[in-house]
Amino acid sequence: MQNNTFSGLFVGQNLVTITEVDSTNNFLKEALANSTPLPDGTVIMAEAQYAGRGQQNNKWNSEPGKNLTCSILLKPTFLSLNHRFDLNVAISVGIIKALQKATHNDIKIKWPNDIYFGDKKLGGVLIENLVQGNSIKNAIIGIGLNVNQEHFPDWVPNPVSVKQILQRDYDLKALLSDICGSIEAAYLMLKAGNFEQLKALYLHNLYWYNEAHRFKANNAVFEGTITGVEKNGQLIVSSGGFARLYNFKEIEFLNKHK
Ligand code: BTN
Repeated sequence: MQNNTFSGLFVGQNLVTITEVDSTNNFLKEALANSTPLPDGTVIMAEAQYAGRGQQNNKWNSEPGKNLTCSILLKPTFLSLNHRFDLNVAISVGIIKALQKATHNDIKIKWPNDIYFGDKKLGGVLIENLVQGNSIKNAIIGIGLNVNQEHFPDWVPNPVSVKQILQRDYDLKALLSDICGSIEAAYLMLKAGNFEQLKALYLHNLYWYNEAHRFKANNAVFEGTITGVEKNGQLIVSSGGFARLYNFKEIEFLNKHK
């Protein structure tokens, strides 16, 4: 167990920093598979990942030493599987609260859990749940945030970093400490069963919520308004008087340039 100076009760109290790894999510997965005893709230932070993973089998790009690439181990055994999206809600809320404080800007959650500044992506979350029976035994919360990187490869869609927002470098450990504290606060709300309060915070900070925008689904472009998110995480988009439900990757958000 490595000690650190983070406040809070458990998230980040066991902080393991590594220079290079394939993926911090893989690192935690392998440690769990080998029955390594890891306390709830363990954080693995890597300076560099050579096979960082994003959602939908995408690669995650991060310039070594510049950004936050970390995974948090949580043990939400209190949460039944039908509340699995609420974990996603709590994590997203925790991350954006810390980033709003750090940047003094309106950081948003792009459904389901991208982190956005304006129309640009500041970071993303890859949650991998290890399920046992009807509950989540271990949740690996992989977080990638662009912090001090200024130049991105062409294949990275719409990136932005904290440095590009603030015009100065930001201390990675300080940001991680705030994110751990903020995730812990949201996670404790989840544990207390405050699902509605967390959902309200999620919707309040949701990109394009209650605004008319263009979307693409089933090969058709249409104007619609995000009016909510179902309990199972499906996005509710209303258009022409009808509300439709979408799973991840079934709907594309069309920005003005598309
Ligand atoms: C996404 O937006 O597609 C999710 C990106 C998640 C990236 C983080 S970086 C730390 C952790 N380790 C990984 O391999 N992926 C996540």
